[in-house]
Amino acid sequence: MAHIVGGLAASHIPAIGGAMARGVENEPYWKPFFDGFPPIRDWLGHVKPDVAVVFYNDHGLNFFLDKMPTFAVGAAAHYNNADEGWGIPTLPPFKGNVALSWQIINHLIDHDFDVVTCQEMLVDHAFTLPLKLFWPEQFTQIQTVPICINTVQFPLPSAKRCYALGQAVGDAIRQWDSDLKVVVVGTGGLSHQLDGERAGFINKHFDLAFLNSMQTHPDWATQYSIHELVEKTGTQGVELLNWLAMRGALGPSATTVHRNYHIPISNTATGVLAMAT
Ligand code: DHB
Ligand code: FE
Repeated sequence: MAHIVGGLAASHIPAIGGAMARGVENEPYWKPFFDGFPPIRDWLGHVKPDVAVVFYNDHGLNFFLDKMPTFAVGAAAHYNNADEGWGIPTLPPFKGNVALSWQIINHLIDHDFDVVTCQEMLVDHAFTLPLKLFWPEQFTQIQTVPICINTVQFPLPSAKRCYALGQAVGDAIRQWDSDLKVVVVGTGGLSHQLDGERAGFINKHFDLAFLNSMQTHPDWATQYSIHELVEKTGTQGVELLNWLAMRGALGPSATTVHRNYHIPISNTATGVLAMAT
């Protein structure tokens, strides 16, 4: 049976892609953010996952406002990178793992998650940048299964439902008849709001409570409604639903390998987390 080695989560701000392309990771603005990654890369070098199952939110690239699946799972042999216009370099295609995609899809449908299945799927910065941050050289080697959660266009799925989705995906992986090692990834957040009257909104107090909960009380955030989460984290901070799904997949006990929190990169309070199972 397949084995989940742990979980990863990271912010996915497009400007990070520009910083990596320019090689400015050690400049004062960027260093406190990029310093969060080497200990996690060391751990990944040790546990050596073969496949990354990635919870993220599409930003109007693959699904626009006219057709917005609540949950969508990729089932392609590869995923081409495109983006909705941030001017960051396009990365080469990412490998899929079609067998694991169908294992997850069949398990989810069997357990009352009526997901959209995508045999073709473009991936944007929310998928590509965290993978490049975690595997700067080998990001095209790792096999992937993208899972989109709608965090963009109301109505959004509840935190409770996203956590349950993660739990079901974790069960599907653990029941997969394969020797491969899997890491589960969640991207986005932490608190940020890019538009409207509260543009620039950050909530350090809530972010740190959320980060702590990942270890001590993993379903803590499910006590909040979506509107409460938007109030506490910002209209885009609600991307933390992807972290919550990742955490659900790991099972009750997971221990923190490394974490980092830094404000700001662009308009966002950034977080990165690695947990071992
Ligand atoms: C920013 C953050 C995001 O999550 C995103 O998808 C796009 C931009 C930002 O802070 O610039
Ligand atoms: Fe985003």
